[in-house]
Amino acid sequence: KKLVFSGVQPTGNLHLGNYLGAIRRFVALQEGNDCIYCVVDMHALTAQLVHEDMPSQTRSIAAAFIAAGIDPEKHIVFNQSAVPQHAELAWIFNCVARIGWMNRMTQFKDKAGKDREQASLGLYAYPSLMAADILVYRATHVPVGEDQKQHLELARDIAMKFNLDYAEHISRTGYGVDITVGNEPVHAYFPMVEPLIGGPAPRVMSLRDGTKKMSKSDPSDLSRINLMDDEDAISKKIRKAKTDPDGLPSEIDGLQGRPEADNLVAIYAALADKSKADVLAEFGGQQFSVFKPALVDLAINVLAPITGEMRRLMDDTSHIDAILRKGGERARARAEVTMRQVRDVIGFLY
Ligand code: TYM
Repeated sequence: KKLVFSGVQPTGNLHLGNYLGAIRRFVALQEGNDCIYCVVDMHALTAQLVHEDMPSQTRSIAAAFIAAGIDPEKHIVFNQSAVPQHAELAWIFNCVARIGWMNRMTQFKDKAGKDREQASLGLYAYPSLMAADILVYRATHVPVGEDQKQHLELARDIAMKFNLDYAEHISRTGYGVDITVGNEPVHAYFPMVEPLIGGPAPRVMSLRDGTKKMSKSDPSDLSRINLMDDEDAISKKIRKAKTDPDGLPSEIDGLQGRPEADNLVAIYAALADKSKADVLAEFGGQQFSVFKPALVDLAINVLAPITGEMRRLMDDTSHIDAILRKGGERARARAEVTMRQVRDVIGFLY
Protein backbone atom coordinates (compact mmCIF):
# COMPACT_ATOMS: atom_id res chain seq x y z
CA LYS A 1 0.00 0.00 0.00
CA LYS A 2 1.51 3.30 -1.06
CA LEU A 3 0.96 6.61 0.65
CA VAL A 4 -0.08 8.98 -2.12
CA PHE A 5 -0.32 12.77 -1.84
CA SER A 6 -1.13 15.46 -4.38
CA GLY A 7 -2.51 18.97 -4.52
CA VAL A 8 -4.31 21.33 -6.88
CA GLN A 9 -4.47 25.11 -6.55
CA PRO A 10 -7.81 26.88 -6.37
CA THR A 11 -6.94 29.48 -9.00
CA GLY A 12 -9.13 29.98 -12.07
CA ASN A 13 -10.91 27.16 -13.80
CA LEU A 14 -9.65 23.63 -13.96
CA HIS A 15 -8.77 22.60 -17.49
CA LEU A 16 -8.20 19.38 -19.38
CA GLY A 17 -4.48 19.44 -18.52
CA ASN A 18 -5.27 19.41 -14.78
CA TYR A 19 -7.76 16.61 -15.34
CA LEU A 20 -5.66 14.32 -17.55
CA GLY A 21 -2.27 15.10 -16.00
CA ALA A 22 -3.47 14.91 -12.41
CA ILE A 23 -7.07 14.39 -11.24
CA ARG A 24 -7.92 11.42 -13.49
CA ARG A 25 -4.77 9.74 -12.23
CA PHE A 26 -5.65 10.53 -8.59
CA VAL A 27 -8.85 8.56 -9.16
CA ALA A 28 -7.00 5.56 -10.60
CA LEU A 29 -4.53 5.46 -7.71
CA GLN A 30 -7.24 5.00 -5.06
CA GLU A 31 -7.40 1.26 -5.57
CA GLY A 32 -5.02 -0.40 -3.12
CA ASN A 33 -3.37 2.80 -1.87
CA ASP A 34 -3.85 5.33 0.92
CA CYS A 35 -4.45 8.69 -0.79
CA ILE A 36 -4.51 12.26 0.47
CA TYR A 37 -5.74 14.91 -1.97
CA CYS A 38 -5.49 18.54 -1.07
CA VAL A 39 -6.83 21.86 -2.34
CA VAL A 40 -3.73 24.00 -1.83
CA ASP A 41 -5.32 27.32 -0.93
CA MET A 42 -2.18 28.68 0.73
CA HIS A 43 -0.26 28.17 -2.51
CA ALA A 44 -2.94 30.17 -4.30
CA LEU A 45 -1.86 33.31 -2.44
CA THR A 46 1.38 33.24 -4.39
CA ALA A 47 -0.52 33.81 -7.63
CA GLN A 48 -2.85 36.48 -6.30
CA LEU A 49 -2.95 37.91 -2.79
CA VAL A 50 -6.61 38.88 -2.58
CA HIS A 51 -9.22 36.43 -3.84
CA GLU A 52 -12.81 37.58 -3.93
CA ASP A 53 -13.92 34.03 -4.48
CA MET A 54 -11.46 31.90 -2.49
CA PRO A 55 -14.25 29.91 -0.78
CA SER A 56 -16.02 29.04 -4.02
CA GLN A 57 -12.76 28.29 -5.85
CA THR A 58 -11.73 25.98 -3.01
CA ARG A 59 -15.08 24.21 -3.05
CA SER A 60 -15.02 23.83 -6.81
CA ILE A 61 -11.68 21.96 -6.75
CA ALA A 62 -13.01 19.70 -4.01
CA ALA A 63 -16.18 19.20 -6.08
CA ALA A 64 -14.04 18.26 -9.10
CA PHE A 65 -12.21 15.64 -7.01
CA ILE A 66 -15.50 14.10 -5.88
CA ALA A 67 -17.21 14.39 -9.28
CA ALA A 68 -14.22 12.71 -10.96
CA GLY A 69 -14.63 9.75 -8.60
CA ILE A 70 -12.46 10.28 -5.53
CA ASP A 71 -13.98 8.64 -2.46
CA PRO A 72 -13.61 11.03 0.50
CA GLU A 73 -14.58 8.32 2.99
CA LYS A 74 -11.84 5.88 2.05
CA HIS A 75 -9.30 8.60 1.30
CA ILE A 76 -8.74 12.15 2.53
CA VAL A 77 -9.90 15.31 0.75
CA PHE A 78 -9.22 18.63 2.49
CA ASN A 79 -7.93 22.16 2.04
CA GLN A 80 -4.37 23.00 3.00
CA SER A 81 -5.00 25.98 5.30
CA ALA A 82 -7.12 23.75 7.55
CA VAL A 83 -3.93 21.94 8.58
CA PRO A 84 -1.47 24.51 10.01
CA GLN A 85 1.20 21.81 10.30
CA HIS A 86 1.91 22.33 6.58
CA ALA A 87 3.02 25.90 7.25
CA GLU A 88 4.93 24.86 10.35
CA LEU A 89 6.97 22.27 8.46
CA ALA A 90 7.41 24.67 5.54
CA TRP A 91 9.17 27.11 7.87
CA ILE A 92 11.61 24.40 8.93
CA PHE A 93 12.14 23.51 5.27
CA ASN A 94 12.81 27.17 4.48
CA CYS A 95 15.75 26.85 6.82
CA VAL A 96 16.87 23.54 5.25
CA ALA A 97 16.59 24.62 1.59
CA ARG A 98 19.34 26.75 0.06
CA ILE A 99 18.72 29.94 -1.88
CA GLY A 100 20.79 28.51 -4.74
CA TRP A 101 18.32 25.63 -5.08
CA MET A 102 15.39 28.03 -5.26
CA ASN A 103 17.14 30.16 -7.86
CA ARG A 104 17.11 27.23 -10.26
CA MET A 105 13.32 26.79 -10.19
CA THR A 106 12.02 27.47 -13.69
CA GLN A 107 8.45 28.04 -12.51
CA PHE A 108 9.63 30.84 -10.24
CA LYS A 109 11.51 32.46 -13.10
CA ASP A 110 8.45 32.23 -15.36
CA LYS A 111 5.98 33.48 -12.79
CA ALA A 112 8.16 36.21 -11.33
CA GLY A 113 8.68 37.68 -14.80
CA LYS A 114 11.15 40.47 -15.47
CA ASP A 115 10.80 42.42 -12.25
CA ARG A 116 11.96 39.72 -9.86
CA GLU A 117 12.53 42.22 -7.05
CA GLN A 118 8.76 42.67 -6.90
CA ALA A 119 7.92 38.96 -6.67
CA SER A 120 6.63 37.86 -3.26
CA LEU A 121 8.78 35.90 -0.88
CA GLY A 122 5.93 33.36 -0.89
CA LEU A 123 6.32 32.74 -4.62
CA TYR A 124 10.02 32.16 -4.06
CA ALA A 125 9.42 29.75 -1.18
CA TYR A 126 6.53 27.99 -2.96
CA PRO A 127 8.45 24.70 -3.54
CA SER A 128 9.38 24.51 0.12
CA LEU A 129 5.69 24.60 1.13
CA MET A 130 5.02 21.99 -1.53
CA ALA A 131 7.68 19.71 -0.01
CA ALA A 132 6.05 20.22 3.39
CA ASP A 133 2.61 19.30 1.99
CA ILE A 134 3.93 15.91 0.97
CA LEU A 135 6.37 15.18 3.77
CA VAL A 136 4.13 16.21 6.66
CA TYR A 137 2.38 12.90 5.89
CA ARG A 138 5.67 11.21 4.95
CA ALA A 139 3.98 10.42 1.63
CA THR A 140 6.07 8.65 -0.97
CA HIS A 141 4.12 8.76 -4.23
CA VAL A 142 3.05 12.01 -5.86
CA PRO A 143 0.99 12.00 -9.06
CA VAL A 144 1.49 15.28 -10.97
CA GLY A 145 1.81 16.66 -14.48
CA GLU A 146 5.26 17.04 -15.92
CA ASP A 147 5.50 20.74 -15.04
CA GLN A 148 5.87 19.81 -11.35
CA LYS A 149 8.85 17.50 -11.79
CA GLN A 150 11.49 20.02 -10.77
CA HIS A 151 9.58 20.86 -7.59
CA LEU A 152 9.50 17.21 -6.61
CA GLU A 153 13.23 16.88 -7.16
CA LEU A 154 13.65 19.79 -4.79
CA ALA A 155 11.44 17.99 -2.25
CA ARG A 156 13.86 15.06 -2.40
CA ASP A 157 16.82 17.39 -1.88
CA ILE A 158 15.13 18.95 1.14
CA ALA A 159 14.28 15.55 2.63
CA MET A 160 17.82 14.32 2.06
CA LYS A 161 19.45 17.35 3.64
CA PHE A 162 17.12 17.19 6.65
CA ASN A 163 17.94 13.49 7.09
CA LEU A 164 21.70 14.14 6.89
CA ASP A 165 21.80 17.28 9.02
CA TYR A 166 19.72 15.68 11.75
CA ALA A 167 21.09 12.14 11.37
CA GLU A 168 22.30 11.93 14.98
CA HIS A 169 19.13 13.38 16.40
CA ILE A 170 17.06 11.02 14.29
CA SER A 171 18.94 8.00 15.66
CA ARG A 172 18.73 9.34 19.20
CA THR A 173 14.95 9.79 19.07
CA GLY A 174 14.43 6.47 17.30
CA TYR A 175 11.89 7.89 14.85
CA GLY A 176 13.82 7.01 11.72
CA VAL A 177 12.73 4.66 8.99
CA ASP A 178 15.12 2.49 7.03
CA ILE A 179 15.22 3.51 3.39
CA THR A 180 17.70 2.95 0.58
CA VAL A 181 19.19 5.83 -1.36
CA GLY A 182 20.93 4.53 -4.46
CA ASN A 183 22.03 1.21 -2.99
CA GLU A 184 22.93 2.59 0.44
CA PRO A 185 20.76 1.72 3.42
CA VAL A 186 20.02 4.96 5.33
CA HIS A 187 18.28 5.49 8.63
CA ALA A 188 16.26 8.53 7.64
CA TYR A 189 13.28 10.45 8.93
CA PHE A 190 11.73 11.61 5.67
CA PRO A 191 11.25 9.12 2.83
CA MET A 192 12.32 9.85 -0.75
CA VAL A 193 9.44 11.25 -2.76
CA GLU A 194 8.70 9.46 -5.99
CA PRO A 195 7.03 11.52 -8.70
CA LEU A 196 4.33 9.66 -10.62
CA ILE A 197 4.41 11.42 -13.97
CA GLY A 198 2.95 9.32 -16.69
CA GLY A 199 0.10 8.17 -18.78
CA PRO A 200 -0.27 9.33 -22.37
CA ALA A 201 -0.76 13.00 -21.42
CA PRO A 202 1.71 14.13 -18.72
CA ARG A 203 1.88 17.49 -20.48
CA VAL A 204 -1.28 18.57 -22.28
CA MET A 205 -0.49 21.34 -24.74
CA SER A 206 -2.46 24.40 -25.86
CA LEU A 207 -5.03 23.73 -28.60
CA ARG A 208 -3.77 26.83 -30.39
CA ASP A 209 -0.03 26.11 -30.22
CA GLY A 210 1.33 22.59 -29.71
CA THR A 211 4.59 23.93 -28.26
CA LYS A 212 2.95 25.72 -25.31
CA LYS A 213 1.49 24.07 -22.23
CA MET A 214 -2.29 24.20 -21.78
CA SER A 215 -2.63 26.69 -18.95
CA LYS A 216 -5.10 28.73 -16.93
CA SER A 217 -3.16 31.88 -17.68
CA ASP A 218 -3.30 31.68 -21.48
CA PRO A 219 -5.30 34.75 -22.62
CA SER A 220 -7.06 32.72 -25.34
CA ASP A 221 -9.91 30.60 -23.98
CA LEU A 222 -9.76 28.63 -27.25
CA SER A 223 -6.38 27.31 -26.12
CA ARG A 224 -7.87 25.13 -23.39
CA ILE A 225 -10.88 23.00 -22.56
CA ASN A 226 -12.20 23.99 -19.15
CA LEU A 227 -13.82 21.38 -16.97
CA MET A 228 -16.88 23.65 -16.76
CA ASP A 229 -17.21 24.08 -20.56
CA ASP A 230 -20.53 22.99 -22.04
CA GLU A 231 -20.81 20.60 -24.97
CA ASP A 232 -20.92 23.38 -27.56
CA ALA A 233 -17.76 24.96 -26.22
CA ILE A 234 -15.91 21.63 -26.17
CA SER A 235 -17.01 20.89 -29.71
CA LYS A 236 -16.05 24.34 -30.99
CA LYS A 237 -12.62 24.32 -29.35
CA ILE A 238 -11.70 20.89 -30.71
CA ARG A 239 -12.97 21.73 -34.20
CA LYS A 240 -10.92 24.93 -34.16
CA ALA A 241 -7.83 23.28 -32.66
CA LYS A 242 -4.71 23.93 -34.71
CA THR A 243 -3.52 21.01 -36.85
CA ASP A 244 -1.24 20.50 -39.83
CA PRO A 245 -2.59 19.50 -43.27
CA ASP A 246 -1.53 15.83 -43.13
CA GLY A 247 -3.64 12.92 -41.92
CA LEU A 248 -2.79 10.85 -38.87
CA PRO A 249 0.23 8.51 -39.07
CA SER A 250 -0.08 4.81 -38.28
CA GLU A 251 3.01 4.74 -36.04
CA ILE A 252 4.10 6.83 -33.07
CA ASP A 253 7.27 7.92 -34.91
CA GLY A 254 5.07 9.70 -37.43
CA LEU A 255 4.03 12.18 -34.71
CA GLN A 256 7.56 13.56 -34.40
CA GLY A 257 7.78 17.21 -35.35
CA ARG A 258 3.97 17.43 -35.35
CA PRO A 259 3.22 18.81 -31.87
CA GLU A 260 -0.45 19.61 -32.52
CA ALA A 261 -1.22 16.16 -33.94
CA ASP A 262 0.73 14.56 -31.10
CA ASN A 263 -1.25 16.55 -28.53
CA LEU A 264 -4.67 15.61 -29.92
CA VAL A 265 -3.69 11.94 -30.08
CA ALA A 266 -2.39 12.10 -26.50
CA ILE A 267 -5.65 13.70 -25.32
CA TYR A 268 -7.69 11.03 -27.08
CA ALA A 269 -5.54 8.26 -25.60
CA ALA A 270 -5.78 9.64 -22.05
CA LEU A 271 -9.55 10.14 -22.26
CA ALA A 272 -10.02 6.61 -23.64
CA ASP A 273 -7.54 4.96 -21.24
CA LYS A 274 -5.54 3.73 -24.21
CA SER A 275 -1.98 4.22 -25.42
CA LYS A 276 -1.14 6.58 -28.27
CA ALA A 277 -0.13 3.52 -30.32
CA ASP A 278 -3.64 2.06 -29.87
CA VAL A 279 -5.20 5.32 -31.02
CA LEU A 280 -2.99 5.41 -34.12
CA ALA A 281 -3.78 1.78 -34.85
CA GLU A 282 -7.41 2.86 -35.01
CA PHE A 283 -7.09 6.23 -36.76
CA GLY A 284 -3.83 5.94 -38.74
CA GLY A 285 -4.34 7.16 -42.31
CA GLN A 286 -7.49 9.13 -41.41
CA GLN A 287 -7.86 12.88 -41.83
CA PHE A 288 -8.49 15.28 -38.93
CA SER A 289 -11.98 15.78 -40.39
CA VAL A 290 -12.66 12.22 -39.16
CA PHE A 291 -10.53 12.23 -36.01
CA LYS A 292 -11.74 15.53 -34.56
CA PRO A 293 -15.45 14.60 -34.43
CA ALA A 294 -14.50 11.31 -32.74
CA LEU A 295 -12.45 13.28 -30.21
CA VAL A 296 -15.38 15.67 -29.62
CA ASP A 297 -17.70 12.73 -28.86
CA LEU A 298 -15.20 11.09 -26.55
CA ALA A 299 -14.41 14.32 -24.69
CA ILE A 300 -18.10 15.06 -24.17
CA ASN A 301 -18.82 11.50 -23.05
CA VAL A 302 -16.09 11.64 -20.45
CA LEU A 303 -16.41 15.25 -19.28
CA ALA A 304 -20.16 15.94 -19.32
CA PRO A 305 -20.99 13.63 -16.39
CA ILE A 306 -18.16 15.15 -14.34
CA THR A 307 -19.23 18.70 -15.14
CA GLY A 308 -22.85 17.86 -14.33
CA GLU A 309 -21.89 16.36 -10.98
CA MET A 310 -19.64 19.34 -10.16
CA ARG A 311 -22.53 21.71 -10.82
CA ARG A 312 -24.82 19.64 -8.63
CA LEU A 313 -22.28 19.58 -5.80
CA MET A 314 -21.75 23.34 -6.06
CA ASP A 315 -25.49 24.05 -5.80
CA ASP A 316 -25.66 23.05 -2.19
CA THR A 317 -22.28 23.65 -0.60
CA SER A 318 -23.11 21.93 2.70
CA HIS A 319 -22.08 18.51 1.37
CA ILE A 320 -18.66 19.71 0.11
CA ASP A 321 -18.11 21.73 3.27
CA ALA A 322 -18.76 18.66 5.39
CA ILE A 323 -16.29 16.63 3.33
CA LEU A 324 -13.61 19.31 3.71
CA ARG A 325 -14.25 19.67 7.43
CA LYS A 326 -13.95 15.94 8.08
CA GLY A 327 -10.98 15.59 5.75
CA GLY A 328 -9.26 18.47 7.53
CA GLU A 329 -9.74 16.81 10.91
CA ARG A 330 -8.30 13.52 9.72
CA ALA A 331 -5.39 15.23 7.95
CA ARG A 332 -4.58 17.32 11.05
CA ALA A 333 -4.40 14.25 13.25
CA ARG A 334 -1.96 12.57 10.87
CA ALA A 335 0.15 15.67 10.27
CA GLU A 336 0.44 16.26 14.01
CA VAL A 337 2.01 12.81 14.50
CA THR A 338 4.83 13.86 12.18
CA MET A 339 5.19 17.33 13.66
CA ARG A 340 5.54 16.07 17.23
CA GLN A 341 8.41 13.90 16.08
CA VAL A 342 9.98 16.65 13.99
CA ARG A 343 9.86 19.08 16.93
CA ASP A 344 11.50 16.42 19.04
CA VAL A 345 14.20 15.70 16.44
CA ILE A 346 15.03 19.40 16.16
CA GLY A 347 14.91 19.94 19.90
CA PHE A 348 12.00 22.34 20.14
CA LEU A 349 10.49 22.14 23.61
CA TYR A 350 6.85 21.27 23.30
P1 TYM B 1 -1.57 23.23 -10.31
O1 TYM B 1 -2.70 23.62 -9.44
O2 TYM B 1 -0.97 24.26 -11.19
O3 TYM B 1 -1.99 22.02 -11.24
C1 TYM B 1 -2.62 20.87 -10.71
C2 TYM B 1 -2.09 19.63 -11.40
O4 TYM B 1 -2.34 19.70 -12.81
C3 TYM B 1 -1.15 19.43 -13.52
N1 TYM B 1 -1.15 20.18 -14.79
C4 TYM B 1 -0.99 19.61 -15.99
N2 TYM B 1 -0.80 18.33 -16.38
C5 TYM B 1 -0.69 18.08 -17.69
N3 TYM B 1 -0.76 19.06 -18.66
C6 TYM B 1 -0.94 20.35 -18.32
N4 TYM B 1 -1.03 21.28 -19.26
C7 TYM B 1 -1.06 20.68 -16.93
N5 TYM B 1 -1.27 21.84 -16.26
C8 TYM B 1 -1.30 21.51 -14.96
C9 TYM B 1 -0.04 19.88 -12.59
O5 TYM B 1 1.19 19.28 -12.91
C10 TYM B 1 -0.57 19.46 -11.25
O6 TYM B 1 -0.28 18.08 -11.00
N6 TYM B 1 2.37 23.08 -7.24
C11 TYM B 1 1.19 22.36 -7.67
C12 TYM B 1 0.22 22.09 -6.53
C13 TYM B 1 0.82 21.47 -5.32
C14 TYM B 1 1.23 20.11 -5.20
C15 TYM B 1 1.68 19.98 -3.84
C16 TYM B 1 1.27 19.03 -6.06
C17 TYM B 1 1.03 22.06 -4.13
N7 TYM B 1 1.54 21.16 -3.23
C18 TYM B 1 2.19 18.77 -3.37
C19 TYM B 1 1.77 17.82 -5.58
C20 TYM B 1 2.22 17.69 -4.25
C21 TYM B 1 0.46 23.19 -8.71
O7 TYM B 1 0.60 24.39 -8.78
O8 TYM B 1 -0.42 22.52 -9.45
